[in-house]
Formats: sequence, C-alpha cells, structure tokens
Amino acid sequence: MSGFALKNPKSERLFKLFRCEKRNGAEEKTASPVPVLLAPMAGITDSAFRRLCIERGCDFTFTEMVSANGLHYKNRKTQELISTSEAEKPCGVQLFGHDPAIIAETVQRLFESLVSSEDVSIVDINMGCPAPKITSNGDGSALMKNPALAGKIIEAAVKASPVPVSVKFRKGWDENSVNAVEFARIAEKSGASFITVHGRTRMQMYSGKADRELIKSVVEAVNIPVIGNGDIFSGESALTMLETTGCAALMVARGAQGDPFIFSEIKAALLGENYERPSEKARLDTAIRHIEEYVSGHGSGAFVDMRKHIAWYTKGMYGSNELRRRVNNCSDAETLTALIRAFRDERESFIERTMSEHMMNE
Ligand SMILES: Cc1cc2nc3c(=O)[nH]c(=O)nc-3n(C[C@H](O)[C@H](O)[C@H](O)COP(=O)(O)O)c2cc1C
Repeated sequence: MSGFALKNPKSERLFKLFRCEKRNGAEEKTASPVPVLLAPMAGITDSAFRRLCIERGCDFTFTEMVSANGLHYKNRKTQELISTSEAEKPCGVQLFGHDPAIIAETVQRLFESLVSSEDVSIVDINMGCPAPKITSNGDGSALMKNPALAGKIIEAAVKASPVPVSVKFRKGWDENSVNAVEFARIAEKSGASFITVHGRTRMQMYSGKADRELIKSVVEAVNIPVIGNGDIFSGESALTMLETTGCAALMVARGAQGDPFIFSEIKAALLGENYERPSEKARLDTAIRHIEEYVSGHGSGAFVDMRKHIAWYTKGMYGSNELRRRVNNCSDAETLTALIRAFRDERESFIERTMSEHMMNE
C-alpha cells in the first residue's frame, strides 16, 4: 500500500481546531496526515464507544445528537448525552434544533453550566439527520430546504460559542434539490469553521452510494476545511475518499459499528503501513469491555442496548447466529458477558485445535 503522502494545510488546521495535541499519546495518533473522526450516531456513540474508538486511533469524536430544546428545558437524559470523560477528549457536542434564539441560548448555557471549553472543543450543528421524527419538526436535514434559516442558526451559534462551530449536512433534500455547494457557502459565510458532508440526499437515507464527486465540488467551492463522510468501510475506501474528493479529514459512522479497530486500519492505510485485522479474540475482548463500560455508565438494565453491538462484533464468526439467538434471550448484563466470554473461549480452543491438527498434517 502506498499511503497518502500529500500534506493538506486544511488538515493541519483541523488538527489544531480539534486540539489533538492535548491528548496523551497524541504524537503517535496525529502522525497521520489527515484527521480521522468518529461520526455522531444516535444510540451508538456514547461515552463508552467513543473511548474505544479514541484508543484505537480515532482523532476526534462527537456526542450523539442532542436536542437544543431538550438542553434548553434541562431535560436530564439530554444532559447525560453530553457528559464526556477525560479519556475521550478531544470531543465535540452535536446539537440539533431550528430556532436560532434557542440554539444561541443553549450554546451559551452549555458552556456556562454543563461543559467547559477545555472539555468540548467543537459545537457541531446537525443539518443532515433524515429521520422523520426530526425532519417533521424542521430539524436535521429539513434545514437543507431552508438555507437562509440554516445560515441564521449557524450565525447565532457562532456568536454564542466560545469554541469553533461546525455543520454536518447532506447532498441536499432530494435529487431535484441538490444544494450542498450553495449550503456550504452559506455555512462558511455564517461563520462555520469547517463542515462535514455526507454525500447522500435526505431521501436516499442510507441507500445507494455516497456521491464523492459532489463532495469534491463542495471542497472546491469553499475555503474552510471539508470533512468527507459516507461509505468509508476500510482503509482502502478511506484512501479513495481522500484521493477523489481532496477533503481535509475523514469521518466514519457505520464502518465503526462492531469495529472500533477501523481507525487503526485507516491510519495504517494513510501511512502506507501494513495492517493486520484483529483476531476474533481481540474483537470479542473488545465487545466484553464495551458491555462492561456501557453498563457501568448507563445502569445494569441498559444491557439490552448491547444486543446490536454484539451482532456487529461477531458478524461473520462461526456460530454467531446461535450466539445472537442466546444474546436476545439474555435477561441481565452478567449473563450476557458470561455468554460472550464462553463464546470467545470456545472459539479460541477451536482455533487452537484446528491449528495444531493442521501442523501435524503438514
Ligand atoms: C444509527 C445511526 C445513527 C446516526 N445518528 C446521527 C446523529 O446523531 N447525528 C448525525 O449527524 N448523523 C447521524 N448519523 C449519520 C452518520 O453520522 C453518517 O453521516 C452516515 O451514517 C454516513 O456515514 P457512513 O457511510 O460512514 O455510515 C447516524 C447514522 C446511523 C447509521
């Protein structure tokens, strides 16, 4: 693998905005020419998962999207979503909302009483979420239909925020209203420090392919750094995203589900180094740690949320269908962890047996 040799000054600018240099061991992690980020994912990128990704080479993470209204009205669950620990720094908070005044007040209050600008280095505004329960309120990607309002929201957030503000959006609402380039220019004019573009329309949801040509047009249209997002599932697809779009950083969402190791894989590809896939044992050990830390953060009843993660961690492993059936019947966190441990140990001894038989036959 040849790696990605070109140094992009906008990537350097992002490393500074993210304050990557502040993290322990940062030197080793920022050796990469471009930042590699974990995308915000509602119901997935909680504190425990963010930590696992940071430890495996991810440069920057965001909280799950948080309702500006929820924070405004001091909703306890919403406040929990923004709590970040030392081990996940640097980290950004992502907000969604459609009222510039509420966004401004929320950002102000966020830094007055809930987080410090030492802990949170970016406020991101979600203008890309396609979920009907979000867009029906005029939030998320619905704002792509109202770029003037989007501009006011960004301006209000920038005015209120002691840290840089960014915006994450899509290609457009639908194929007949593709406006990412115009939207990016508005974001830049309104004071956004960088933008993230997911190369799909809202109507596509997650179907089809992310449009890299579109991301390239956005990169060429603005002076602020652009983060490329969509369909990065391997080191190779990360290189393709960089080479075809000229983006300043990469953001990974679904590719990290059950595979926080993907950040090491991408870093290796960027540096032209060989990458060895983690063993089944390493993947299952990570799954066990994920369960333990998730449950310790959210309470023992939250173990049910780990089912989907277990399905992702064990995807493709022999016996994973049966394991999933048992996981779905589990009634507490201890049984769940014990089940994964037993599965890991069975797989280990099976692999050892197969290898020694193979060696005897050679
Ligand atoms: C389960 C799930 C939850 C998501 N939640 C958010 C969110 O809270 N905020 C956001 O901006 N995007 C969210 N997204 C979109 C992703 O951040 C990302 O833009 C999209 O999945 C495309 O990237 P990918 O191809 O790497 O998955 C979510 C995506 C998924 C699959």
